Amino acid sequence: MLVLPKGVRHIPGHLDRAAQEALVEEVRAVVQAAPLYVPAMPRTGKEMSVRMTNCGALGWVTDKEHGYRYQATHPVTGEPWPPIPEALLRLWDAVSGHPQPPQACLVNFYADTAKMGLHQDRDEADLSAPVVSVSLGDACLFRVGGTNRGERTVSFRLESGDVVILGGEGRLAFHGVDRIYPSTSALLKKGGRINLTLRRVTKDA
Ligand code: SIN
Ligand code: MN
Repeated sequence: MLVLPKGVRHIPGHLDRAAQEALVEEVRAVVQAAPLYVPAMPRTGKEMSVRMTNCGALGWVTDKEHGYRYQATHPVTGEPWPPIPEALLRLWDAVSGHPQPPQACLVNFYADTAKMGLHQDRDEADLSAPVVSVSLGDACLFRVGGTNRGERTVSFRLESGDVVILGGEGRLAFHGVDRIYPSTSALLKKGGRINLTLRRVTKDA
């Protein structure tokens, strides 16, 4: 049996097919208002393989000049991010155990060859709230470890509709996406994987 690091929860199939389809429509509307853009690594400016956008009061962005940060506006359009869809606020209430609503929802889009290196989510001032993440579309190989980079990691598949929660001792767990399994879901007509990550950012609000 796969033993997950402390504070890391995997809820397979949390969203049924109908809920996934409804959420994809919401994400489409978000992407129409706030187009996916190409994020770049701090300093080197190396482009990431995922495409990103956000919804919520704050969005996580990264570029060569200013690095990782949260901001209230889209880096390309300069517009405020669209609101977080109701269904995601309800999901947060159902699984987070946190009294305040999420302030940020990062939308990651993975094409067939995209991946994400092992990292911690630590640009948030408030680490008392968990990170709640939802997978839609093609499956991926997700990797998660402890709070130090050298620690043992475990890998498992995330399928469309799965939810992962990094909370408590697992809030700063290293995690990443090793690969996408193309054509494993018919949810997205053109394929690929969407990951939605809900977070609290500021200490009081
Ligand atoms: C992330 O850590 O931002 C994304 C994780 C995922 O795609 O499952
Ligand atoms: Mn992350």
